[in-house]
Amino acid sequence: MRQKYVVGNWKLNGSLPGNEALLKAILPEVSPKAGRHLAVCVPAPYLAQVRGLLEGSPVAWGGQDVSRFEKGAYTGDVSGAMLREFGATLAIVGHSERRTLFGDTDAIVAEKVAAARKAGLTPILCVGETLAERERSETEAVLARQLDAVLEKSGAAALDGALLAYEPVWAIGTGKTATSAQAQEAHAFLRARVAKQDAAVAARLPMLYGGSVKGANATELFAMPDVDGGLIGGASLVAEDFLAIWRAAVAAG
Ligand code: 13P
Repeated sequence: MRQKYVVGNWKLNGSLPGNEALLKAILPEVSPKAGRHLAVCVPAPYLAQVRGLLEGSPVAWGGQDVSRFEKGAYTGDVSGAMLREFGATLAIVGHSERRTLFGDTDAIVAEKVAAARKAGLTPILCVGETLAERERSETEAVLARQLDAVLEKSGAAALDGALLAYEPVWAIGTGKTATSAQAQEAHAFLRARVAKQDAAVAARLPMLYGGSVKGANATELFAMPDVDGGLIGGASLVAEDFLAIWRAAVAAG
């Protein structure tokens, strides 16, 4: 049985008082539960604050991106080692917003996955198609291309102990969730593709769905055999909404 994960992606949101209020509202409601994991991926400047609030709790924390470089003249980048120094255990890599707005190509994403692994972080590798790609029936081709870039660089071993997130771009922040059947279909495709290289790694790879997950749709999504949790944007910023999704993960399976 695979572990289930609920990971909040705060994106470019937060403030010192707001973060504290949010986490203090969440923490009393979260008790450790075997096989279930809750985490938040926060803007880098808040890592120290979030560590102070979450250390010793069942909630883990991570970054939203990681440099492909270890150190040097790379203005603006944050390395995996730096994230680790602040107790982060996770890093989102290849989010569609990084791919479309900040020029992260498949090759760069593959380098970032390798850098995260080298630093001892669990990468959350994001893949997903746009609406135009889905309408042209290119979903599988896009997912294959994004996944293969990582598999070709580092092999299936790069995903052993990592998380894979399917985030259809058309469902992110739009209120349009993929149906549970659409999510399952994409997840099954991705798992089969990893299995071609390494069946054991594929079988234990937790696969998260992201895109307008809410308390109201989480139960149905998490009931799918290949959906092992969610990567949550907007709903991770509201304690009650995030907790509702967490409760769905606790109750699932
Ligand atoms: P929303 O949950 O706001 O649609 O965002 C999903 C996402 O991009 C998580 O990484």
